[in-house]
Amino acid sequence: MIEIQIARHSGFCFGVREAINKATEVAASSPMPTRTYGPLIHNPQEIDRLKKDYGIEPIREIDGYREGNLVIRAHGVTPEDYRRAQTNDLNIVDATCRFVKDVQDYAVEFCRRGYELFVVGDEMHAEVRGIVGHARHEVEDCRIYVVSDLEQIVEKKPVRPAIVFQTTQEFTKFKKIEHYIKSNGLKWKIRNTICGATRSNQYAADELARTVDLMLVVGGRNSGNTIRLAEICSRNVHTLHVETADELMPEWFNGIRKVGITAGASTPQWLIDDVIERIEEIDKDKGIRS
Ligand code: F3S
Repeated sequence: MIEIQIARHSGFCFGVREAINKATEVAASSPMPTRTYGPLIHNPQEIDRLKKDYGIEPIREIDGYREGNLVIRAHGVTPEDYRRAQTNDLNIVDATCRFVKDVQDYAVEFCRRGYELFVVGDEMHAEVRGIVGHARHEVEDCRIYVVSDLEQIVEKKPVRPAIVFQTTQEFTKFKKIEHYIKSNGLKWKIRNTICGATRSNQYAADELARTVDLMLVVGGRNSGNTIRLAEICSRNVHTLHVETADELMPEWFNGIRKVGITAGASTPQWLIDDVIERIEEIDKDKGIRS
């Protein structure tokens, strides 16, 4: 019989839960259409459910929409996008996660104080674009770099750098840069802006992956934090990233006695439950055949 263990921390984080609550509340109580600027979360199955049950639709551009509710997702937006929504008379429901707002505030503050700003994160991610947008909006000539690791910061030969992190970056990146600063006696400013939910999910996934024969990571293939969980687990044990239970193949479980499950911050519980159910089904079938 296959033993299934779930990571101590996994799935929906505070910010995603808040964003979904805000979006569904306004959709249920307002006669106007409710849209989100970009997909509310990086999980295609949950986006489909929100559309089906609440009529909530993601849009790519604000221009062209002149009425209705516009939900700003947990990643936040640039001040320009916010103003565009106001100009278009949309009813703005701001679901920017408070931890993302903290990074935006630090970025602005560092730029105001004349530091070169380094944002460790994914340049194309909406959260990073929002952070950079806020800093640039306040201090037009601030030197801002988006980097993926310590080496890229060092390459720039910074004189007065201040470093912040996209909230869902791997915590080891922060530790590595902090260690470099301390061991070289540098006066660089650094703020650990990786959120608690991300750290807990990463720590729990790493811990569990050391004790099982196979790890399954459930979540959107477009979800950066889910991809990072899969990377962390795969350093310890064979790891598979799935979006839905339908993807599970019986042969994956040949010779497996203990399966660990974790899920990204944007993975709803119902998808995790489906995966557990499917493993139990596969296990039962194998038992019947043997
Ligand atoms: Fe907020 Fe962290 Fe979730 S920044 S949206 S609580 S992953």
